[in-house]
Amino acid sequence: MAPILRLPALEDEKAALDGHRKMLTDPFMDFLLDYRSAEPFAAWMERVNAVSLGLHCPAPWLPGEFLFIEDEGTLVGRVWIRFELDEHMAEYEGHLGYVVLPGHRRRGYAHQALAMSLARLRLAGVQTALVTCEQSNLASIALLEAAGAAFERMAAAPMASRRRYMLATSP
Ligand SMILES: CC(C)(COP(=O)(O)OP(=O)(O)OC[C@H]1O[C@@H](n2cnc3c(N)ncnc32)[C@H](O)[C@@H]1OP(=O)(O)O)[C@@H](O)C(=O)NCCC(=O)NCCS
Repeated sequence: MAPILRLPALEDEKAALDGHRKMLTDPFMDFLLDYRSAEPFAAWMERVNAVSLGLHCPAPWLPGEFLFIEDEGTLVGRVWIRFELDEHMAEYEGHLGYVVLPGHRRRGYAHQALAMSLARLRLAGVQTALVTCEQSNLASIALLEAAGAAFERMAAAPMASRRRYMLATSP
């Protein structure tokens, strides 16, 4: 079975908070973006789903979707898809951020989530996606290059250790 991308739900609380704790020491990425320590999961979920549903978009969010990657009932990761970029994101972060939780890696989830996210960007009118990652993030670099992403250039200072890649959103 292929994984799906879907909105966070109340039933995800335990798995999502466990995943968030596991990712706190990760050098590259948070799991639950904008999760405030000790806030009720339901409050975070309402905030993030309002962004994905186009209802409300407070900083640090941008118009787009924050979706969980689920495989056969198991939460395995998340994507944050940005349909519009501000100046900072257009240079340093790009259209997409993704995390596959430790314990679920090297099973093709990121590869499949990347393809599904590109399709959603295409629907939102983005022809070429910018995806960035740190020079030291060998897993993400390998993932992107295996997916056919073209290295464009290093990002400008002060985040000059970040690699910028371009990916067509049409197959
Ligand atoms: C990067 C990350 C999303 C990869 O997730 P994943 O589900 O393990 O990746 P996949 O199984 O889909 O891997 C697809 C391909 O990417 C490459 N790849 C993925 N992880 C790799 C690793 N640790 N080392 C080398 N290549 C790797 C391989 O080419 C792999 O294909 P293969 O398994 O057939 O060799 C995951 O390691 C992660 O969440 N890291 C922490 C958060 C992060 O860095 N996010 C990206 C920020 S830019």
